Amino acid sequence: MCLMKKRRNRFPKYLLPSLLFTAMLFSYSLTASAAVKDTDADGLTDQAEIQIYHTDPNNPDTDRDGVSDGQEVLNGTNPLDPSDSVPHAKNFSNPGILGAPEKFPWYFGRAAGILALILLTASVAFGLVMSSRAFLTIIPGADSYEFHRALSLASIIAVIVHFASFLFDGFIRLTFAEALVPYLFNRQGLTSSAGFDTRIPVMLGVIAFYLIIILILTAELRTKMPPKVWRIVHSVSFAAYPIFLLHGFMSGTDSKEGWMRAIYAFSFALIALLILIRIISRTVIPFFRRLKETSF
Ligand code: HEM
Repeated sequence: MCLMKKRRNRFPKYLLPSLLFTAMLFSYSLTASAAVKDTDADGLTDQAEIQIYHTDPNNPDTDRDGVSDGQEVLNGTNPLDPSDSVPHAKNFSNPGILGAPEKFPWYFGRAAGILALILLTASVAFGLVMSSRAFLTIIPGADSYEFHRALSLASIIAVIVHFASFLFDGFIRLTFAEALVPYLFNRQGLTSSAGFDTRIPVMLGVIAFYLIIILILTAELRTKMPPKVWRIVHSVSFAAYPIFLLHGFMSGTDSKEGWMRAIYAFSFALIALLILIRIISRTVIPFFRRLKETSF
């Protein structure tokens, strides 16, 4: 009687919990394997095919359009529609300049920098044309002077627009102080497209800006200055030119582009040629003329 009682009590005590545990383990492993199982190896799990995409978990290309269900999901096309198998253009299109308004200050600043470079090159060119005697018959000195003056005023406006745009750019985050104090701009690890640390090239830009301001101011006050002082100050322009050219090339994003390199090369070649013509027309030719006169 006592033995019978013991046997009856032990049986349900261990069997029931073990049966429950085994059932739980089995159902869990079934659910887990469904969640990771990909019977047709199309990149989508069986569970996702059944519950989300309603595709056939045993057929890798449910709509038979030649693109697997998984690839269609990645491409953004419909894996159930055979006529929708080409990736949508919108998924891959470049937003372009007008599609990214947050980059407007960046594009605008760079464009203004390039414009400033072109205007300054033209201004320096007309200055050299005016001071070389070689062109007097082609273009009167007064006209060259007007071009030279107008272009330098336009270029300084372009320079101000150039660096002022970068004050609003979210990437470079130029501050007012950095734009006006040489060597203050310092971005660790910010290398330009030509491979230079941007600190020195940007400093050159700030120096070039001040040199151009000095040139414009002294040109406007020319009549109030002793000619010798004016000539010395104005000869600073020969230093300003290589400084702003180096600044643009060394810091510019577009320096790696062929068209931008062509602009730098053209600017340099034009100014070098005009300097050569100026030296020949003002120094070499008068020297030989004087030599000829004294020999007679
Ligand atoms: C004579 C004065 C200046 C001229 C002619 C000039 C011109 C240029 C040019 C042509 C570029 C290359 C643009 C490109 O490749 O897209 C450039 C880049 C740059 N400039 Fe100036 N700049 C002048 C002054 C300044 C000043 C005062 C600042 C103020 C900090 C400045 C800041 C910059 C910066 C940060 C870049 C790099 C932008 C980029 O990655 O393209 N520049 N500049």
